[in-house]
Amino acid sequence: MCGIIGAVAQRNVVPILLEGLRRLEYRGYDSAGLVVINKGLQRVRSTGRVAELAAQIGRQKTHGHLGIAHTRWATHGGPTEDNAHPHVSTNSIAVVHNGIIENHEALRTRLKSLGYDFASETDTEVIVHLIHFYYQASRDLLVAVRAAVAELQGAYAIGVVSAEAPHQLIAARRGSPLLIGVGIEENFIASDVSALLPVTQRVIYLEDGDIADIGLLGIRIFDAEGRPVERGEHVSELSADMAELGNYRHFMQKEIHEQPRAIADTLLAGVTTHSVLPGIFGPQAEDVLGKINGVRILACGTSFHAAKVAEYWIESLAGLPCRAEVASEYRYRNSVADPDTLILTLSQSGETRDTIDALIQAKKLGHKHSLAICNVPESALVRASELKFLTRAGPEIGVASTKAFTTQLVALFLLALVLGRLHGRVSVAQEKSWLDQLRELPGLVGQALALEPEISAWAERFADKHHALFLGRGAHYPIALEGALKLKEISYIHAEAYPAGELKHGPLALVDKDMPVVAVAPNDTLLEKLKSNLQEVRARGGELYVFADQDSHFSEQDGLHLLRLPSHAGPLSPIVHTVPLQLLAYHAALCKGTDVDKPRNLAKSVTVE
Ligand code: M6R
Repeated sequence: MCGIIGAVAQRNVVPILLEGLRRLEYRGYDSAGLVVINKGLQRVRSTGRVAELAAQIGRQKTHGHLGIAHTRWATHGGPTEDNAHPHVSTNSIAVVHNGIIENHEALRTRLKSLGYDFASETDTEVIVHLIHFYYQASRDLLVAVRAAVAELQGAYAIGVVSAEAPHQLIAARRGSPLLIGVGIEENFIASDVSALLPVTQRVIYLEDGDIADIGLLGIRIFDAEGRPVERGEHVSELSADMAELGNYRHFMQKEIHEQPRAIADTLLAGVTTHSVLPGIFGPQAEDVLGKINGVRILACGTSFHAAKVAEYWIESLAGLPCRAEVASEYRYRNSVADPDTLILTLSQSGETRDTIDALIQAKKLGHKHSLAICNVPESALVRASELKFLTRAGPEIGVASTKAFTTQLVALFLLALVLGRLHGRVSVAQEKSWLDQLRELPGLVGQALALEPEISAWAERFADKHHALFLGRGAHYPIALEGALKLKEISYIHAEAYPAGELKHGPLALVDKDMPVVAVAPNDTLLEKLKSNLQEVRARGGELYVFADQDSHFSEQDGLHLLRLPSHAGPLSPIVHTVPLQLLAYHAALCKGTDVDKPRNLAKSVTVE
């Protein structure tokens, strides 16, 4: 949560900072602010969106060659202008921060006793006063930042500038992401590479505990012990236009429609005509995956729903016990660890605090092996895991996760196949047949996308509802969970999902004519059972919206609306059935006029507990 960007250049950095903020806005959008050095500190802050900050800056004609900027997701203190970053100390030092300082109360008390006045309720403000305090003694910004961060407990990525050092940008991180963008006689920092793509693709990822001293011509990096270190430079594969809206109305819509391409790219990662190469999960994957005796998956939100689908696939294809668990629960549980059970973490961002801490807990409990499936290279989760697989969804900007989910599912299916083969459950011929089916997937998803006009018409009927139920069975139950999550997070319609067989054990009491019931109804072995469950709904006057397969026997009748997806896709069906639920949520949100890409109270990367 929160996005930070900074720049030191020979040109005016304000447009670079504003464009970077626009690209980081998915990380938080309660307020935004910027400081540039131009004959002293010039600060502009505004509540609300980056567009409002940009308008304010346009009126004030702010400019400068060194600056830092921030877009905020409020944790300590409400979304007011006083709480907006950058925070300043005695009008000479400014700081932007992403993370949470856990010992801020003790530091605040101490700094107050030293005479510092606090202008905000944020935890961040202690950082800037602490840096100022140490700067008084050393008159060296790098030395002051090093002394200050040594006292911080919690997570931080910070950018620091001083009015007395008009060409010096200091960056430091622990627990929150931060990278350096390398330019020609200009350099940058940002929470995420996408913010810097208009100016550079050359990036250096800072490691935990690093502090960087960044000037126009040089970058010096020091590790947690203060030793100078070299961190490798990477060239990002992303291009600036990947994070552009193009002809779409919202990023969510664009990202839903990118799924055929994203799935095809993810498959290209290491699939030959006949087999999945275990090496796609890392050089030691064949050895590690061949000897594990089970899989425990830790994830949050949408990624957790992908984990729930994988339970079905890994158990049925590989014959290994597999259990998915919400990371925020696992991290505080004394679970019984079998060292040979693989810890698999799933995350779009690779920054989710709960998932990272769950992995740390799993290692503490004795699990020997870990694999991260993630969409962001070099993210904290990827770096903390023994094995890794990078999905190729490309940048996902909409807060509601869509293409990251379906590409995670593709990665999980590949993992189930590799495990199946290494554990003697999937023959060479079977593997080839599964791969042939996987290659059909982008086309099947494309056919599901073609239902958008009909789904949009359905969505109009949801717009005035306050509640909805989603039903599925087997591996489609997690898809129902995901459909309900999508609807609630962007349309604010309360939605719950149940395994359809569970309906009669309680939730059926909720069903009446005002409760739309969405059924995920693939043509699989559970279809007849599901049909019986749907009859229970109809008998109580419930209105059913059924997503069925082309080849199943269903007829539209009173109280039952029907849309047909392509013919049944076997075990890959959950991926195809996800698409119409994403579209339903998107169009319901459009009808309700909500802010689809930036739903209230949420942020894309949840880097706090
Ligand atoms: O980046 P992650 O996949 O770890 O994020 C996990 C959840 O915060 C995320 O999936 C969230 O539930 C989305 N807003 C769902 O659309």
